[in-house]
Amino acid sequence: MTDAMACPVNHSFDPLGDAYVADPYPILSGVREEAAAFYAPAIDMWVITRFDDIQSALMDPGTFSAAVGQRPVFPLAEEARAILKAGFHAYPVMSDCDPPRHTRIRRHNQKAFSARRIATLEPKVWAKATELVDAIEPGVVDLVSALTYPLPAYMIFTFIGFPDEDMDMLKSWCGNRIAFSWGRPTLDEQRDIASNMVNYWQYCEEFVAKRLAEPVDDFTSDLIRIHRADPESLSIPDITNVAYGLSFAGHETTTSFTGNAVRRLLVNRGQWDDLCADRSLIPKAVEEILRYDSSIPAWRRITTRAVTVGGVEIPANAKILLLLGAANRDAKHFEAPETFDVHREDSRKHLSFGQGIHYCIGAPLARMEARIALDLLAQRAPGMRLVEDQDFDFPANVSFRGPRKLLVDWPQ
Ligand code: HEM
Repeated sequence: MTDAMACPVNHSFDPLGDAYVADPYPILSGVREEAAAFYAPAIDMWVITRFDDIQSALMDPGTFSAAVGQRPVFPLAEEARAILKAGFHAYPVMSDCDPPRHTRIRRHNQKAFSARRIATLEPKVWAKATELVDAIEPGVVDLVSALTYPLPAYMIFTFIGFPDEDMDMLKSWCGNRIAFSWGRPTLDEQRDIASNMVNYWQYCEEFVAKRLAEPVDDFTSDLIRIHRADPESLSIPDITNVAYGLSFAGHETTTSFTGNAVRRLLVNRGQWDDLCADRSLIPKAVEEILRYDSSIPAWRRITTRAVTVGGVEIPANAKILLLLGAANRDAKHFEAPETFDVHREDSRKHLSFGQGIHYCIGAPLARMEARIALDLLAQRAPGMRLVEDQDFDFPANVSFRGPRKLLVDWPQ
């Protein structure tokens, strides 16, 4: 056994810094080569950089608790906390919850997230994506507002069972929630987001009560049926929490991912042309984009005890940042890891959906939505090009990455 070393400190690592926000990958590669783990004072977190260590942490929920998954990285202002306290009663159910509670709630959700329910969505994803693409006019278009934002938002709300006529209101309540828990929002932003979270929470409570009175054929009603069969095991507040949490998890992630996908493919024009010529390549391309430019390049944990990671000591109660984006380009696991290649055979080994008990429950839906969006774009606009010299604007935060706008020239 080798002696563990004291944890190095990296004073320059700052995921909210301009260079990282513009392009984190050179920084991720640098820190991965330098040390298996380090302390980053800018975010008061211990950061883990390599594939094997990140995989081990994901597979060890006893040591690496998920409890901090949704907690604001930076303390909120008193005013925002007061708004939440008055009307927002969410509690941990899945991504920020440990066993045994996580095991129970996840088991029920896994049932309701059945292959059958996901399959019933496929024609709806095609129909919605087709409607959105049909509405695009030739010329310069922002693909985020035209397609990659509305498609996952509509699909996750439909999946949960929210009625079509509420979509615009729901979308307006979801804005900017990334900044709240993963970034450094201003006081005004905190106030706005907190009020929206209260509205949205109350909407979810009323919606679940409606489904309890009259279940239909949707995901929430499936959970209600599970509740009715065994009320102790899945309570009504549990279901409200799931509905609340899913609307975020299933929405921003996929918007950002599809934006990253279109950008990467159009920058690598030859690979976009290959994909348009042979659309059976799309599922492989989706995995390569997940590996190369995921919408969640980093995720959080907190240690329950002191632990040694890659020979580096990390104390108990250490807030941890797992650099999934660095793991996905670790040369120990991927050949020529910095090369984007949709023909790569082993890209599916990426850690972009996590691994172990918290493995992303929405992975099949996210993959399906991205696949269908790319398929339609390849059919309808193989000649589409990125508008040159545009500045890509990415939100500054520790976990989520995707362009807020993506300007393309849509052909005649
Ligand atoms: C490309 C899009 C997506 C990416 C990159 C992504 C990534 C992730 C990651 C990294 C985790 C955390 C795993 C962990 O803590 O170990 C996660 C968990 C989760 N994701 Fe996703 N996700 C995506 C789309 C979705 C969608 C569409 C949904 C819902 C429909 C969803 C629902 C969830 C839920 C509920 C969890 C928590 C699971 C648990 O803790 O048991 N995600 N996802």
